[in-house]
Amino acid sequence: MSEPSAPDREREREPGASLVALRAASYAYEDGPTVLSDLDFDVTEGRALALLGRNGSGKTTLMRLLSGGLRPDQGDLILGSAPVTYDRKGLTRLRTTVQLVVQDPDDQLFAASVEQDVSFGPLNLGLSDAEVRARVAEALAALDISALADRPTHLLSYGQRKRTAIAGAVAMRPRVLILDEPTAGLDPDGQERLLTTLQGLRDAGTTVVMATHDVDLALRWADDAALLTPSGVRTGPVAEMLARRELLAQAGLTLPWGIAVRELLRDKGLLEGEGPRTPEELAALTASAMPGASAG
Ligand SMILES: Nc1ncnc2c1ncn2[C@@H]1O[C@H](COP(=O)(O)OP(=O)(O)O)[C@@H](O)[C@H]1O
Ligand SMILES: [Mg+2]
Repeated sequence: MSEPSAPDREREREPGASLVALRAASYAYEDGPTVLSDLDFDVTEGRALALLGRNGSGKTTLMRLLSGGLRPDQGDLILGSAPVTYDRKGLTRLRTTVQLVVQDPDDQLFAASVEQDVSFGPLNLGLSDAEVRARVAEALAALDISALADRPTHLLSYGQRKRTAIAGAVAMRPRVLILDEPTAGLDPDGQERLLTTLQGLRDAGTTVVMATHDVDLALRWADDAALLTPSGVRTGPVAEMLARRELLAQAGLTLPWGIAVRELLRDKGLLEGEGPRTPEELAALTASAMPGASAG
């Protein structure tokens, strides 16, 4: 790929529009802890965002606030430029923009077959049969499960159930797709295939947000990272955020492999720019920085 011209680089750095945001939002469970307090949080158009934090840090709560399943005790959820109203009309506007896929597909799937399950959201929007069929076909294809359309959901594997749950959200054609720990419980091949699928959705213009514990996956996959710490949520470019050891410790996370390699190469004077995010990028870097080290 050629170097972008200077104006392109400028544009890349410009922050995108905020698709959905929390403003001064607080939330406490009844008979439970205050999970988020006075939080400002933005989901920026086109920026893949990883939510990271220890168990119980509030990732799921934050996602449910962003998708309207929970309502902030104080503050607002902003969609476009207007606060969300939690009446039928407001929630429909929110659900056609933001879709949440919960962690356990068995909490999301309920219809007898894959096709019926994925149809449910579009049918509820009152779309025509033809439009519903088109959306379901598109979502099944995006998740690579077209062949499973007639399969009873209770006969699917875990990975297939997970894909079906994601297809149900994709069929709503959301601008923001939020996934709660989508790779948890998948085998390595299943994880890779899911990342490829999510890349396809990103390429098609969906803004994707995921919660994960996996810092290496976040570094490789995300543009931005939001770290949930006891002193608040810190968001920024993923390679910067995941290099901040103190912040990582507060969030109960460890230094990603790619950042450790980047620091090592920099200390040795072998690297000036960005560090590698994948083994392939590391191989390319070492080939150019250490020609003698090339395996040939
Ligand atoms: N339904 C609930 N009722 C009461 N407390 C809850 C409920 N759900 C979560 N919590 C508490 O809220 C905090 C944040 O939980 P959660 O958002 O699920 O964190 P995470 O997804 O990062 O593990 C935890 O202390 C958890 O015990
Ligand atoms: Mg959670």
